[in-house]
Amino acid sequence: MRIGVPKETAPDERRVAMVPESCKKLIQAGYEIAIEAGAGGEAGFGDGAYRDVGAGIETQREALLGAADVVLGVGAPSSEQIAEMRPGAVYLGSLMPLRNLDAVRALASRRVTAFATDAIPRTTRAQAMDTLSSMANIAGYKGVLLAAAELNKYFPMFMTAAGMVPPAKVFIIGAGVAGLQAIATAKRLGANVTATDVRPEVKEQIESVGGKYVGIELQESAAAGGGYAKELSEADRTRQREILAAQCAQVDVVLTTALIGGVFAPRLVTAAMVHAMRPGAVLIDLAADGGGNCELSRPGETVTVNGVTILAPLNLPASMPMHASLLFSRNLTAFLLAFTRDQAFNLDLDDDIQQGALITHEGEVRHARTLDALQKGAA
Ligand code: NAI
Repeated sequence: MRIGVPKETAPDERRVAMVPESCKKLIQAGYEIAIEAGAGGEAGFGDGAYRDVGAGIETQREALLGAADVVLGVGAPSSEQIAEMRPGAVYLGSLMPLRNLDAVRALASRRVTAFATDAIPRTTRAQAMDTLSSMANIAGYKGVLLAAAELNKYFPMFMTAAGMVPPAKVFIIGAGVAGLQAIATAKRLGANVTATDVRPEVKEQIESVGGKYVGIELQESAAAGGGYAKELSEADRTRQREILAAQCAQVDVVLTTALIGGVFAPRLVTAAMVHAMRPGAVLIDLAADGGGNCELSRPGETVTVNGVTILAPLNLPASMPMHASLLFSRNLTAFLLAFTRDQAFNLDLDDDIQQGALITHEGEVRHARTLDALQKGAA
């Protein structure tokens, strides 16, 4: 069974879906692997490193994709890549189907069986395959480093011969995987950290990584199951706004990570809240890929409003491509090895993980939320 790994085509994408360490494991499990020449270069994995573990290097992408039974990717494949895939082939990657409906349509009409690692159910068995968590961890870490580099102050408290400087105050909105990593990273850098979320179980998690929880008692639960949040009721939203406004006005750094259903970013930080922030403060909007949590964020750009710098970086994991690729590749390898029988990929649509992650199969869209989005788009 042949796995093909093309070079990513999205602008600014520097990750690769498979690193040599994982190739070695999959080759031992009986797969053949071909990598497009140069695919791992920007992540620090040269063609030679792949050859050393027994992978083939293919210079022609069309030949690579045409021969592959399983195609691995980081993001959604391009329309050209999909057209070069073999009907009946399996695609595995972080497809983000709700943000890439055109790719979903093209995969279905090409009769590719596409799995999105971002749609994998959040169960203990699936944890090792969860690319969302691996990448969110990187975003949380890198977001804090960007804030520290941008801020006109130290993060830690310092006792110096010239006197004491107090620690920076950091406020994190959304304490899922990215938010918890951001709290831990800001804490390691010596900042005072407060954080909020709408899922009640996170209070303890915030405290366990060194943050102080601030939040409202919700009148209606916002937990949607599987670690996902749903939108707040209007009454809760109004009450939450007061807390957010008070916190934003006091701190040096606001870092936002809130997502609804893991996909869309609710607008939580209003223009008025930004205007009330201290001049010199920094806001890092880590939800920029989902549209942004701050009304004034411009995804992919840095803007300054009233002395407050707002960064809304896109695809932060790609800015740390070596470890991002390593972890991503381990997630895909865990998926493939869990479903390998007799040295080949075993399609088993009764399995809960395959069922949850399946987006297209035999010419049809099989993922309910994606199908719903496509039908709404067509209406
Ligand atoms: P996410 O990326 O969907 O959302 C980020 C955070 O934003 C969440 O904590 C959410 O509650 C919060 N949020 C949404 N609306 C908000 C609002 N209006 N105000 C404040 N915060 C808001 O979530 P993520 O980070 O992917 O995962 C969340 C949780 O799911 C994790 O902490 C973990 O407990 C669980 N999980 C379990 C996995 C497994 O068992 N395999 C894998 C991944 C996550």
